[in-house]
Amino acid sequence: MSSSSGKKERLYKVLVVGELGAGKTSIIKRYVHQFFSQHYRATIGVDFALKVLRWDPDTVVRLQLWDIAGQERFGSMTRVYYKEAVGAFVVFDVTRSATLEAVPKWKADLDAKVALPDGRPIPTVLLANKSDQPKEGIAANREKMNEFCQQQGFSAWFETSAKDNINIDESANFLVSKILEMDKWSQEPLAPDPDKVELTANGKHKGAAPSNCAC
Ligand code: GTP
Ligand code: MG
Repeated sequence: MSSSSGKKERLYKVLVVGELGAGKTSIIKRYVHQFFSQHYRATIGVDFALKVLRWDPDTVVRLQLWDIAGQERFGSMTRVYYKEAVGAFVVFDVTRSATLEAVPKWKADLDAKVALPDGRPIPTVLLANKSDQPKEGIAANREKMNEFCQQQGFSAWFETSAKDNINIDESANFLVSKILEMDKWSQEPLAPDPDKVELTANGKHKGAAPSNCAC
């Protein structure tokens, strides 16, 4: 969407998934409302939040955040919730390794049910939340986490704390930059300009950037 002043506005749907109590709602509350509470109230179904970012002097990005209840992993609604999303966070709790063990299931659920319009997986960032607390299992091992992140096809992973406001803006900015990259790519005309795009024989973009792990 472009306004008459030449400024661009983008609206992106971003999913936030992960096990019960991993901190999805807390991360969103911190990011959007600069607020944190110790009090746990499980999300039922899905909640929404909107974050408006002045990305650069010409671009306003509106992030529509879909806060999906951890209990939905066993439900049948995720297919409906995931529709038309262009990015995602998978959140786990560093103090409970079972929440990390469930990450591949969440990632597989995303990959099975949502993709970019050209079929590529949506950029997804892994958040190791509650990093203000002592870590359990491989969450404490950076190298293993890098490996896990790469194997699972995440764009990157960040240690976050909704409580202490660690890496919340940074991880969101990273995901937005990935989304913008993908969006730019999809808007490129399929022009036969060798300096701009490489074409395959059937006229499609060649090797549309495999998920490369920034970890
Ligand atoms: P569901 O809605 O059930 O899927 O859970 P959720 O992932 O939305 O978790 P929620 O944000 O409700 O947080 C669960 C509990 O963890 C709450 O008591 C939060 O206060 C606590 N919590 C969340 N983030 C952090 C954090 O970064 N550090 C600490 N110490 N506690 C956190
Ligand atoms: Mg919640």
